[in-house]
Amino acid sequence: MSNYHIKHLEEYYQVYRKSVRNPENFWEEIAEEHFVWRKRWDKVLSWDFSKPEVKWYEGAQLNITENCIDRHLRTRGTKTAILFEPNDPSEEAEHISYQQLYARVNQFANVLKEQGIQKGDRVCIYLPMIPELAISTLACARVGAIHSVVFAGFSATALSTRINDSDCKMVITSDGSYRGPKTIDLKGIVDEALEDCSCVATVLVAKRIHTDINMKDGRDQWLQPLLDNASTECEPEIMNAEDPLFILYTSGSTGKPKGMVHTTAGYMVYTAFTFKNAFQYRENDVYWCTADIGWITGHSYIVYGPLANGATSVMFEGVPNYPDWGRFWEIVEKHKITQFYTAPTAIRALAKENLDFVEKYDLSSLKVLGSVGEPINDEAWHWYDGNIGKKKSPIIDTWWQTETGGIMISPIPYATPTKPTYATLPFPGIQPTLMDENGQEIKGNQVDGRLCIKFPWPSMARTIWGNHERYRDTYFTAYKNMYFTGDGALRDEVGYYRITGRVDDVIIVSGHNLGTAPIEDSINEHQAVAESAIVGFPHDIKGNALYGYVILKETGESRNPDNLRKEINQIITEHIGPIAKLDKIQFTSGLPKTRSGKIMRRILRKIASNDTNNLGDTSTLLNPEVVQEIMDNVL
Ligand code: WTA
Repeated sequence: MSNYHIKHLEEYYQVYRKSVRNPENFWEEIAEEHFVWRKRWDKVLSWDFSKPEVKWYEGAQLNITENCIDRHLRTRGTKTAILFEPNDPSEEAEHISYQQLYARVNQFANVLKEQGIQKGDRVCIYLPMIPELAISTLACARVGAIHSVVFAGFSATALSTRINDSDCKMVITSDGSYRGPKTIDLKGIVDEALEDCSCVATVLVAKRIHTDINMKDGRDQWLQPLLDNASTECEPEIMNAEDPLFILYTSGSTGKPKGMVHTTAGYMVYTAFTFKNAFQYRENDVYWCTADIGWITGHSYIVYGPLANGATSVMFEGVPNYPDWGRFWEIVEKHKITQFYTAPTAIRALAKENLDFVEKYDLSSLKVLGSVGEPINDEAWHWYDGNIGKKKSPIIDTWWQTETGGIMISPIPYATPTKPTYATLPFPGIQPTLMDENGQEIKGNQVDGRLCIKFPWPSMARTIWGNHERYRDTYFTAYKNMYFTGDGALRDEVGYYRITGRVDDVIIVSGHNLGTAPIEDSINEHQAVAESAIVGFPHDIKGNALYGYVILKETGESRNPDNLRKEINQIITEHIGPIAKLDKIQFTSGLPKTRSGKIMRRILRKIASNDTNNLGDTSTLLNPEVVQEIMDNVL
């Protein structure tokens, strides 16, 4: 039996038991059998959740790109590593073989070095879904620089906050990007962001949309001529197991985004292991994850996990509805996709359209369908199962987080019987548990509580960049000796988990995590606004949408409310990005608060969701009269 490739339920249980009984042995065997190391580890694991400090494969040395690229050259040199499908279907897809990827990553790595980037330096990557995005992340890893990829839908303010937080020396971007029928001026956004960033010395600019852009002398350089002059050989930097590989920002309950730090060896082992098993990847499969590399799903399951397995990974530049709603299925047919991994919000949007868009295409190549990012509702699950998988491809509802680095709870296709809306069972090595509000572990089945993880796993984030205390406070103080996920979950009669949603002030809109605090902070900057509170309410396609309650200053009260709404959304777009815009904005004279001054969001959430039959306990309210006013004027 190989630990590496689980094919039956019995085998899953055996492997799982082994992974819990002796985690060190389990992860040691996997690391030994499936990767190349420059030096072996001295110790598999040391950990202390109270600090918190977690180290995997301490003492080992490696470079992750040797594992993702170099070692495949002998057997898979001409195999496609990255299959780039452009925004415009009439533009030809690009097949980048492992050999070509090797050359291009090395050239890019040499450019980074020539530009003064060294091991440990932070490099911000702000690129659309073009091959340079994958290549530049790997090039950073090749030279030991820490990449910080920022999703190219974020605004200039959001970008500059992230660049400054981790003190990036360089930004890699493009002249612009395509998004369906539109083009976006990415370089303009970078220029605006950099007005507030003194740490950035160099900006490398890839050409994509070939427009005239402003190039700042002494700072900005076109990428292609530099690449053309660079050697295709670059010795990989030898990294320690616990050296940071990347920083990726995620929203939290308080204002500033959290720069989650992932390290090298554990992240590599875990993403490779989960990729292989969650997708049952086989040598000639063509795997497609529709996420953007700007999110953790793209890091782990477009770039590192697939490439560590020598897989063919599709990168799609476009959107699901361009040129029409059949685009995904056209791509599945064209490239004979075998594993397809997307988000419930996309499934719901696709399910609203005419089935002709699906039925026109041959989807018979599909073997596994994945879902990630938010709970998948029953209706979407069945639509996906019936119309896309034709009831033959198992759906893997994969639960995990930016912080966890890799898939934590998910069926193993063809081994774990699936159950609609359930993420089912933990991956080998993952020890989930449910906690009650008093800090007690909830035993037994058919229970619900707060989802925690009891034991370290290799790809967990090690800290928040520059703020270890916040890392401890956010994840390790709610429950002693546990990692707290921020999610609620239930466990059914056979031990399957179903994730019910966030239990903190993070709202998931179209699969994107949005903290309420940063949105409120930006609204409050509007000169007419005194105070605001954001909650989520159910939305057909987005899962949740945002509802804002806004108290105006006296000066704002005479203003036209619709204009104010527009201005508020404009401010949010500037500070965060269009993904954080509010669907509804209600002006109110007050917000329900406790005597200690805390906004009672529970009540606001119920009102926004039209669920006012039972508002729960309101006895601690300081101003109960405002609740009636808000209910009377609900939108
Ligand atoms: C939610 C994305 C239910 C959850 C990989 C988690 C899910 C947050 C699922 C992390 C799922 C993710 N079912 N909820 N299958 N997958 N979530 O950091 O609330 O962007 O805490 O990572 O998304 O989002 P993040």
